[in-house]
Amino acid sequence: MADSARGLAGDFKRFLAAQEEDELLDISRPRAQTDLPPAALHHNATKQNAGVSTAPKMAENSTLTVDFPHANTQPPAPVEEPTMNKTDKTRALNELAEVIKTCTRCPLGATRLNAVPGEGNVSADVMFVGEGPGFDEDRQGRPFVGRAGQLLDKMILAMGLTREKVFIANIAKCHPMVDPLHPEKHGNDRAPNAQEIACCRKYIEQQIAIVCPKYVIALGGVAAKALISDADSLGALRGKFHTLHLDSAELPKPVQIIATYHPAALLRNPNWKKDAWQDLQMVMDKLGLKGARK
Ligand code: URA
Repeated sequence: MADSARGLAGDFKRFLAAQEEDELLDISRPRAQTDLPPAALHHNATKQNAGVSTAPKMAENSTLTVDFPHANTQPPAPVEEPTMNKTDKTRALNELAEVIKTCTRCPLGATRLNAVPGEGNVSADVMFVGEGPGFDEDRQGRPFVGRAGQLLDKMILAMGLTREKVFIANIAKCHPMVDPLHPEKHGNDRAPNAQEIACCRKYIEQQIAIVCPKYVIALGGVAAKALISDADSLGALRGKFHTLHLDSAELPKPVQIIATYHPAALLRNPNWKKDAWQDLQMVMDKLGLKGARK
């Protein structure tokens, strides 16, 4: 117990120590229906074909009755849909990525260099969701590879995980720019707007449904509002688990989501790292993760 407390204190120190390095990283981020591939919809088809009905039955007299075969015992546990196997998940995510790479549903499709579908372990327990690609991500076609990504890597390591063990994606799949006429400019990033988020929503929802992680960690207000509640601030959404509800995809099993600060915000406000670490520890506790050890 004392050892584990010491270990976590050590992790936390290392996470905070990253601050000095991070201060050198000048992240100048101003705060500013397409058809999905058949495999991406596979688990929905599985559900329809599973032959297991959890819906209440309508009796002949048209009153709604719920059929509990053993009325005096416990009601049956909710039926969990079987999750897809690794091969099917990989195929579905790859097919979805191909759709995303050619998407022109919103104007960002015309100005991006590369779409950034997301990447990681298809069987991850933890999925991180950011707001949208920045300068570096646009060039590499990979999520969180710039300065904010370097801090995200440290956060992942501090949790006792690695980038290979988690899945990382964004709400918007293409780089939102303040000045789309000058994509070569640094400091040209902005948050995706409501129209861009609406166009992209299906993609992140399908990715979450396919990976079906145990926990989603929404990084920053844009992701938290898009996935949890548009009506609340990041401050109101942080510090608790929420059950994730998707609009366009069905989850094979319940997924919990928490919100924390975006790594770019932590680079600007290192004093928030303590709170972010508390958020991450909520997920670590649930998964029995002890954090990074020397
Ligand atoms: N910020 C994000 O929200 N996502 C990225 O991929 C990079 C920076």
